[in-house]
Amino acid sequence: MNTRYLDTSEEDIKTACGFLQSGGIVVFPTETVYGLGALADQAQAVKKVFAAKGRPADNPLIVHVDSLDMVREYARNFSSVEEELLRRFSPGPLTLIVDRVSGRAEAAAAGHPTLGIRIPRSQAALALIRGCGSGIAAPSANRSGRPSPTDFDVACREMDGRVDAIMRGEPADQGLESTIVRVNAGQAYILRPGTISAGQIRDAFRDMDAGIAVSEGHGGEQPAAPGTRYRHYAPRAQVFLVESPEQFLERYHGQADSARVQSIVPREWLRRSPEIADLHISVSGHSFHVLDDLKDYERRLYRMFVDADISGRKAIFCWLPSVSSESSAIRDRLLRAAQG
Ligand code: TXA
Ligand code: MG
Repeated sequence: MNTRYLDTSEEDIKTACGFLQSGGIVVFPTETVYGLGALADQAQAVKKVFAAKGRPADNPLIVHVDSLDMVREYARNFSSVEEELLRRFSPGPLTLIVDRVSGRAEAAAAGHPTLGIRIPRSQAALALIRGCGSGIAAPSANRSGRPSPTDFDVACREMDGRVDAIMRGEPADQGLESTIVRVNAGQAYILRPGTISAGQIRDAFRDMDAGIAVSEGHGGEQPAAPGTRYRHYAPRAQVFLVESPEQFLERYHGQADSARVQSIVPREWLRRSPEIADLHISVSGHSFHVLDDLKDYERRLYRMFVDADISGRKAIFCWLPSVSSESSAIRDRLLRAAQG
């Protein structure tokens, strides 16, 4: 397939809408990761998305909408608590699992009676949804088992020749996939941690005074997000997680060929360890990454993994942040990557 490259100008958004409305599939930017979209109610187009990704047929897609009004087209039994939660975090990186109006987004839901729904913050994504006048079903624009693309270049590496068009937008400013929440019978379950933390979700419910308890994970009572069961992306290099400067240095020196190594450390370690500060100066940019904070880590993680693969690294030594509500998304992705 010949893939068109588009930008996010009004004219190109029209072109992208044209592809979607005639049953095509288009890669577009969002603030979390790039998505691979088809109109949510066009079963044939949605099937093309599954095919282009090599995605297992039982793993449902998230439908992206532009407003609460559009949420109501797809959601049944939409409660005031669910509405308030979406209001609080939308547009933004929150996906809510709702009961699905039967007959809507059937193929995207992969047969499930529920539907993941999200109002993205990215202006290009919103313009695309508005232009089509329909929800857009979109998984992350990677081939199954590979990293979610956080910029145009990686999106092209993944999807060139497999889709009708790829839109060049800004690099994703969040960098990890959305937080997925299911509210059911007085309980909220975080089915996938994301950049909106469990603490923020808890605060939101506390403000609503709705008596909703929040648990991280599905707790066995709620099906997990099916996608979290599949083998997740791990770079070709082996990922070693390190929790302190000492542990980092021990690993680093235990490696015979330092040219084949990528290091990812917090800026604080440069202050705590003159030896790490020296390494930072002497080792070239693409293999020694220094992070300002957790947000910076979330934004850059997938791209750093892609760079490690492109430059043939054998080992990646990654800072594993300590447990906290804010670190749970990055820890989740790191622990999965380290499982290999
Ligand atoms: O940030 C994001 O969510 C990105 C951008 C493109 O919006 N999308 C994304 O989609 O990460 P995907 O398909 O790569 O991941 C969607 C996850 C999968 O783990 C899937 O199993 C889960 O959402 N999911 C979708 N519908 C669900 C449902 N009805 N119930 C439970 N989990 C669901
Ligand atoms: Mg994905």
